[in-house]
Amino acid sequence: MKRSHSDGHREFNPETLALGFGYDSDLSEHAVKPPVFLTSTFQFASAREGKRFFELAYGLREQAAGEQRGLIYSRLNNPNLQIYEERMAAWDQTEMGATFATGMAAIATSVLTLVRPGDVVISSSPVYGGTHYLFHHVLAAFGVEVRFVPAGDGCAEAMREVVREVGGERVRVLFVETPANPNLLHTDIAAVTDLARHLAAEHPHATPPVTIVDNTLLGPVFQRPATFGADVVVYSATKFLGGHSDLVAGLATGRADILKRIRDMRTILGTTTTPFNGWLLLRSLETVSVRMRRQAKSATKLAHLLAEHPRVTRVVHPSLLEPGSPQHDVFTRQCTGNGSLISFEVDGGEDAAFAVLDRFEVFRLAVSLGGTESLVEHPMAMTHADVPPEELEKLGVTSGLIRVSVGLEHLSDLKRDLLWALKA
Ligand SMILES: Cc1ncc(COP(=O)(O)O)c(C=O)c1O
Repeated sequence: MKRSHSDGHREFNPETLALGFGYDSDLSEHAVKPPVFLTSTFQFASAREGKRFFELAYGLREQAAGEQRGLIYSRLNNPNLQIYEERMAAWDQTEMGATFATGMAAIATSVLTLVRPGDVVISSSPVYGGTHYLFHHVLAAFGVEVRFVPAGDGCAEAMREVVREVGGERVRVLFVETPANPNLLHTDIAAVTDLARHLAAEHPHATPPVTIVDNTLLGPVFQRPATFGADVVVYSATKFLGGHSDLVAGLATGRADILKRIRDMRTILGTTTTPFNGWLLLRSLETVSVRMRRQAKSATKLAHLLAEHPRVTRVVHPSLLEPGSPQHDVFTRQCTGNGSLISFEVDGGEDAAFAVLDRFEVFRLAVSLGGTESLVEHPMAMTHADVPPEELEKLGVTSGLIRVSVGLEHLSDLKRDLLWALKA
């Protein structure tokens, strides 16, 4: 299947591409679905062909027009991963994709490709706990300075302040997680990519900064950061993309010149994923739009139920954003759906939150999100345990905050379970 129909030039929609793009059934005994290519290595037709494939893989010569990168070894490339990467690059309206062993592998490999000692990374905050650890501990140990600024309204302006302090020529990466996990604040992607463009113009002799957006919570269905200028989009594919809580994987899509470098780094760090995971991801991609839309619909109903509950002091979900507020403006500009994560707070701190968490019967008490089953967790004690509590409190991630990921169970059972738990 090509990217657009022969009857005209309009591209197919992502949901259609997810079922056929990038796969040539002539190469697989005319199987309608891509088989799983469980092989570590690939046979060359001739020694000369093997040499040509390696020349391209190691960047020893330019790729000729229309020339395909040959299959060599599954740490470099594999049909299941390649098909997935093409479909996701198309969905994100980007030029290229790279699949990884985990979301953290995607983030770490992308950032390590771009930074050198002495460089500065400016990141929105909060970010997923593992990302925070990578930035705070690992990058710092390699001599990279990481500055955090609050996500949400004013994030780009706060980044600009940091630029003034550290010097624009040192800034190599602007990293944004939006919505932020777990306070669900939306950061204006266009404002951040605008800052990156200004920095590049102001410092023509420095390596231009790259904007990376973690799109795990709303992508690919409800948010496409590249359409707002993001250079690289990263995902924990463990979440909605995998969608069934039966695998861990990651993904980066983005500009071809940057993605090529990230893929080269992936080859050397060995952070790619397996053919079987690629096959599972392809299978899940076929339903991601249906799943995310249905999960978001249930989440919207549950968010309103929570908002009216006397024990709940605060609920965060896009459906509850006040029209006219800056958050509502950013959300309506850059997102096309509500998503299925809800954060809510109960009075009484950790003890009260734990009592509620321990009563759920349908919602499972587990970290992660975006699967077919509903999950609940306590960010301060679990996913974000590495971030100092006082910092979290400032970001609205309080000891009474519970994060909910809404799955595909029957809505009436979810409602009943939520009301039951809140009787704790
Ligand atoms: C927003 C976000 N980014 C990245 C990650 C890391 O992904 P993984 O667990 O697949 O390494 C997570 C995991 O929870 C996440 O929620």
